[in-house]
Amino acid sequence: MKFDVKNKVKEYYGGIAKKVESGATSCCCGSSCCDDMSKTSMIYKGEDLSSLPNEALEGSLGCANPIPFAKLKEGETVLDLGSGGGINVLMAAKAVGETGSVYGLDMTDEMLALAKKNKVKMGIKNVDFIKGYIEDIPLKDELIDVIISNCVINLSDDKEKALSEAYRVLKKGGRLAIADIIRIKEIPKDLKDNSDMWCGCLGGAITKQAYHDILEKVGFKNIEIKVEHIYTKEMIDTNVDSIDKAFVGAYIKAYK
Ligand SMILES: C[S@@+](CC[C@H](N)C(=O)[O-])C[C@H]1O[C@@H](n2cnc3c(N)ncnc32)[C@H](O)[C@@H]1O
Repeated sequence: MKFDVKNKVKEYYGGIAKKVESGATSCCCGSSCCDDMSKTSMIYKGEDLSSLPNEALEGSLGCANPIPFAKLKEGETVLDLGSGGGINVLMAAKAVGETGSVYGLDMTDEMLALAKKNKVKMGIKNVDFIKGYIEDIPLKDELIDVIISNCVINLSDDKEKALSEAYRVLKKGGRLAIADIIRIKEIPKDLKDNSDMWCGCLGGAITKQAYHDILEKVGFKNIEIKVEHIYTKEMIDTNVDSIDKAFVGAYIKAYK
């Protein structure tokens, strides 16, 4: 890669978090994960989001809703990889109740600050936002029942390390239930190597087969990858023909 992935991604999402804090959110055009309120309403259609702070909704950058997919139960311990402004952590905290707990992990200081403020605004106790890389999770082995994540693994420059860390921190029998972007057709190399494409959750997206192979290699069983929606160029606000219908939003489930 011709750029430092982690630094570029931190800069990009740090900028979005600052915009949310200043009340100046707008669509990050050219991106599949977008801070656009109409997309947030679409992704979380049917969910009661009324108890969540506005800034959690405005800071929402996911590509699907991993919460119903994860089928969280009371008392479970959950980890959200790349928790951003905290929307899925706060939703998960309600689902697991006071006997459960949720960790949100993110590497970007500004996102962590936003998420922590949202936690305070919501007055919720069973949540802990921690700083770190998904490729080096700062938690002990076999602590977690369920790993959730929304549009983050595609941003990693070492997906095998990230998914092997996810496997390490899961309890035996624990599950990974995440939403992510998958590439379904080849795109030109210069687009894959473009930092805006990477930060917009497209450049780093891998194929369904590659995702499956990595999950299997690091030890996951009963792997299920379900395509949810295809991104047309209109949806990602671009006129580049080669990325029209090249990416899909998908749900991925696997067990330890
Ligand atoms: C597209 S946003 C998604 C945020 C959140 N999951 C949501 O649904 O709104 C990606 C988030 O993942 C974080 N992130 C990306 N790569 C990461 C890594 N390698 N380690 C930790 N966090 C990462 C970014 O800082 C950003 O907050």
